[in-house]
Amino acid sequence: MTDAPMFTPFTLRGMTLKNRLAMSPMCQYSAEDGTANDWHLVHLGSRAMGGTGLIITEMTDISPEGRISEGCAGMYKPEHVAAWKRVVDFVHSQSDAKIAIQLAHAGRKASCMFAWEGGGPLPAERAWEIIAPSAIPFSADSQTPREMNRADMDRLIEAFAQGTRWAEEAGFDMIEIHGGHGYLISSFISPLSNTRTDEYGGSLENRMRFPLEVFHAIRANWPDDKPISMRISAYDWVEGGTEVDDAVEIGRMMKAAGLDILDVSSGNVTDDVRPRVEGLFQTPFSERVRAEAGIPTMTVGNVGGPEQINEVIAGGRADLCCMAKGQLFDPYFAHHAARSLGVEDYKWPKQYAAAGFFKPVD
Ligand SMILES: Cc1cc2nc3c(=O)[nH]c(=O)nc-3n(C[C@H](O)[C@H](O)[C@H](O)COP(=O)(O)O)c2cc1C
Repeated sequence: MTDAPMFTPFTLRGMTLKNRLAMSPMCQYSAEDGTANDWHLVHLGSRAMGGTGLIITEMTDISPEGRISEGCAGMYKPEHVAAWKRVVDFVHSQSDAKIAIQLAHAGRKASCMFAWEGGGPLPAERAWEIIAPSAIPFSADSQTPREMNRADMDRLIEAFAQGTRWAEEAGFDMIEIHGGHGYLISSFISPLSNTRTDEYGGSLENRMRFPLEVFHAIRANWPDDKPISMRISAYDWVEGGTEVDDAVEIGRMMKAAGLDILDVSSGNVTDDVRPRVEGLFQTPFSERVRAEAGIPTMTVGNVGGPEQINEVIAGGRADLCCMAKGQLFDPYFAHHAARSLGVEDYKWPKQYAAAGFFKPVD
């Protein structure tokens, strides 16, 4: 047993995590027509083997047009269920990690090239129509989205509900709604991308109407004992955009609606370059939302070491710490952290038990 805050369990509804480390969602651009494959099995499976408490899949789109790129993962056709189930079954059978699926629609940031091809808009012959709350392109060279009408909203709400039912069939433990980084739901929330004059634009309450409709559809199709998270951009880093005060209000609204945890990120809602900030620059946002809205939070951004995670958790700044780049650098981060914090009974996979006896030499 340990008193290291990083290694204390955490429960949301019927899901108990063995530690406070989450693998942050990371697009891999490696799926074919949305279908997860061996890459996803190894990518996600190895972090589960590496001791991470909560694995969160990359942004997984609920419609083909909702993909950022042709390689984005999906949960929009029945064939996707078995592909994801293979990953989920591996995580559950070979580790005691839990696994969440991040359900998303890319909105005005859809129809782009792979990140390693520069990420710009797809050439016309490969591009598809993109939709958003308002007909405002993401950047000067982006495609202009078509403004969504009621029928688009109804279709996407049903697609989120269907994605949820398939996520349950695949055995996921949690759903995370991607409501951050300028994708569809986020673009409803930010006044920079939502200039609608109907009841879906204007006040924060109006801008939250579509995100809440999506949330209610997901909650209604997801088992009661399984939790739901939502990632948001708590701060747009652009004048006239979402402020942390808004994030607190969003936290209150989502808590009242029944959300279990808010994953507090920031930015990427416009193509304005945001200031480069070192350290745990987003953790103050998580801390405020957690304290003032009274909802559990995850923090993300430059999480890099076990002592830091201990301090965040013990200081009540977040309930979970998400790590993205650090998990690419070191899939076994949790085991290395356990060793450095003196957590002796932290279990390696049985096949790897000998790793516990390894003594590195500096
Ligand atoms: C390769 C890559 C892909 C990403 N894809 C997603 C994604 O699918 N969904 C998401 O919410 N964030 C995504 N992010 C953002 C990360 O989850 C995380 O918020 C960000 O990298 C900051 O955390 P870090 O400092 O630990 O890397 C991605 C980041 C990277 C590096």
